[in-house]
Amino acid sequence: MKQFGHFDDARKEYVIQSPRTPYPWINYLGTQAFFSLISNTAGGYSFYKDARLRRITRYRYNNVPIDMGGRYFYISDNGTIWNPGWSPVKTELDAYECRHGMGYTVITGKKNGLKAEVTFFVPQNYDGEVQQVVLTNESSDTKTFKFFSFAEWCLWDAQDDCTNFQRNFSTGRVEVEGSTIYHKTEYRDRRDHYAFYTVNDSIDGYDTDRDSFIGLYNGFGDPQAVLDGKATNSFADGWSPIASHYKEITLAAGESKTLVFILGYVEMPADKKFEADGVTINKEKAYKMIEQYNTPEKVAAGLAELKAAWDKLLGIFNVNTSDDKVNRMVNIWNQYQCMVTFNLSRSASYFESGIGRGMGFRDSNQDILGFVHQIPDRARERLIDLASTQLEDGGCYHQYQPLTKKGNSDIGGDFSDDPLWMILSVGAYIKESGDWSILDQPVPYDNDESKAKPMLDHLTVSFYHIVNNLGPHGLPLAMRADWNDCLNLSCYSDKPGESFQTYTNPKFAAEGGYSKVAESVMVAALFTYAGPTYVGILKHLGKDDEAAKAQAEIDKMKENVMQSAFDGEWFLRAYDSTGAKVGSKECEEGKIFIEPQGFAVMSEIGKDQGADIKTLDSIDKYLNTKYGLVLNNPAFSKYYIQYGEISTYPGGYKENAGIFTHNNAWIICAEAYAGRGDKAFEYYSKIAPAFNEEISDLHKTEPYVYGQMIAGKDASRFGEGKNSWLTGTAAWNFVAISQYILGISADFDGLKVDPSIPKAWDGFTATRKFRGATYQITVKNPDHVSKGVKSLTVDGKAVEGNVVPVLPAGGTYEVVAVLG
Ligand code: BGC
Ligand code: NOJ
Repeated sequence: MKQFGHFDDARKEYVIQSPRTPYPWINYLGTQAFFSLISNTAGGYSFYKDARLRRITRYRYNNVPIDMGGRYFYISDNGTIWNPGWSPVKTELDAYECRHGMGYTVITGKKNGLKAEVTFFVPQNYDGEVQQVVLTNESSDTKTFKFFSFAEWCLWDAQDDCTNFQRNFSTGRVEVEGSTIYHKTEYRDRRDHYAFYTVNDSIDGYDTDRDSFIGLYNGFGDPQAVLDGKATNSFADGWSPIASHYKEITLAAGESKTLVFILGYVEMPADKKFEADGVTINKEKAYKMIEQYNTPEKVAAGLAELKAAWDKLLGIFNVNTSDDKVNRMVNIWNQYQCMVTFNLSRSASYFESGIGRGMGFRDSNQDILGFVHQIPDRARERLIDLASTQLEDGGCYHQYQPLTKKGNSDIGGDFSDDPLWMILSVGAYIKESGDWSILDQPVPYDNDESKAKPMLDHLTVSFYHIVNNLGPHGLPLAMRADWNDCLNLSCYSDKPGESFQTYTNPKFAAEGGYSKVAESVMVAALFTYAGPTYVGILKHLGKDDEAAKAQAEIDKMKENVMQSAFDGEWFLRAYDSTGAKVGSKECEEGKIFIEPQGFAVMSEIGKDQGADIKTLDSIDKYLNTKYGLVLNNPAFSKYYIQYGEISTYPGGYKENAGIFTHNNAWIICAEAYAGRGDKAFEYYSKIAPAFNEEISDLHKTEPYVYGQMIAGKDASRFGEGKNSWLTGTAAWNFVAISQYILGISADFDGLKVDPSIPKAWDGFTATRKFRGATYQITVKNPDHVSKGVKSLTVDGKAVEGNVVPVLPAGGTYEVVAVLG
């Protein structure tokens, strides 16, 4: 077993020591509007707000070899051509290192006594990527070498860019002024934005046409201009516009030179688009942007500002346990991943092409659970965007595009779980911020302002959307799918090309498109888990009658589940459209599913009959493996048409018995809830990426972030991770470790401290900023139990129960919780 780098916790970096990682290991630059993906060999691309509609640089997914296209620097030194990040030339380097940090990446390569250190970052409040290159001659002789930059423009709409060649090969346009190359394709016509690539020094040439730079029969690894040692000063006219600077550099022994490149994006108002000649683009804003980062001092200041912003964000919740891996996940990487996932939902990663999916309704609502403490204001804005796409009956568009913020009608709606996540996310926002005013905020339905109603109304229709759509056992109808997009109990299909996500089976047309028999136990359990948050809100508002009415629905649902959906040792998954049980001991395959179990346990369904412990024990018995909990067992070995997409996957992958790290978290939470801290921690440490660092060659994806899935025991690649970065796993595992295992969670009326830890732990300490105050928390575990707060003191004074009341902002308070 092998690892490819190490954590540098003091600098909040992961240090990669070989460019040949088992898969590209990437980082994200930017958190506001301008975003870049960057791999450990500088592959990746940039976009503004929307990876589909406003793509700035081009990237080729599914390429051979993988990860082709990025921002590349080529050095031609006395016959040797190399890149600081090794690829795409792949000349063996004398030294290589990539440091992925919080919003920045530093790649360093050395060859024949020349060192090139490149720092990439997107500064705060800035629509561009800054790339600082420090070239140092570490040899004892003077060196003269040639230096080239390279970026390939995307023609803005990434989907169109990779399909509509008959048009796109004739639209590309550029301008060159000094050391700046402007990409202005379609700017004259219908666009109000352009991009630029610049360097803060004079240049000896440039290229703006890809074929002139690379050569028609060459590749990124052997561009003709670099082989020839000279730019061609090409001018793109159609085809594929690029931006490449060329400079000859001489460095005396020991001498260094710093170049600052900026890849920027500019929007101009319609009346200011051009110079007086009506043709030349107005570069006023670009000049200002260039001015902002045209010296190493300004770059250093920008980087310091970025680091300070991250230190502040990560200072909100900080723990010190006896386990370094827990500390680095909680304090650094898991929170960082929560920010990235919050920003991008499931749109752009090395597994998401940026054109497939916009912002997911269920996904983004769940992302808020892990992000809300970082910047509650941004969470609030997101909640309003999401709720604005909801329909008046509580149903939801499943996705929206970030640029338009409108529900995406191609994907449609009718996913049975969607509305419930909004109850949890709005609840989490109020608990964190204490901002009850969000409930009064008018929020449109279906993006129609004339249909605006207070946010509270959105929660009400969400709750009753479930209550109003029940099946024969009084359980929620499964509709298109629930959380599991691949359990399509109505939308199954036997023809290739019919997307499981959008296809509607004519068989159920008479029933309104979906079976009125297929029911989801997972949604039932999610309803009983999320419902109390809605009730809590109503009670706080003094709406006791409505609260009682809602509570009665929750109680009824629990009864219905116990009556029709407890299988003896665990909860059923669903009823299919023929009324047959799904996820039952009676089934031939897929006898037990993970999804309903955790929520059912945490809702205490059938607790008085021991259903919780029986269920948790069954999970351990049937779903637990060396690398985490599989989603279902046994895996499906044939196609069960009535279940839809799930059994299209070979056993052990994805929703067919893969280890879905997202819902592993629900079980971690449930084990912690039930007081079984050791089990909770066992499951946590199986999937938390830092714990898998030593098996990186098997695990394959980045050891600093979660992936959606680890191949399950039925797969030949058991233990291999996939789909890293953008997954609800980030938020839910942060919830699991911080709120359930470490037990520190925001509540409506204070900060709850109720850990459920491994018995061996002596305790831990934590710092939590909450509603403007700082809580220094010490948890002591003298009796070596898992759960149960025996005493709680604030500044030495005893507090009843386990909730520290909201204390005056600005202050710092010592909280001591003793378990026993
Ligand atoms: C995947 C799911 C995903 C869905 C929606 C399916 O093919 O297996 O994990 O949620 O597509 O894009
Ligand atoms: C990934 C999707 O983004 C998410 O919405 C879904 O719940 C899971 N896959 C499970 O199918």
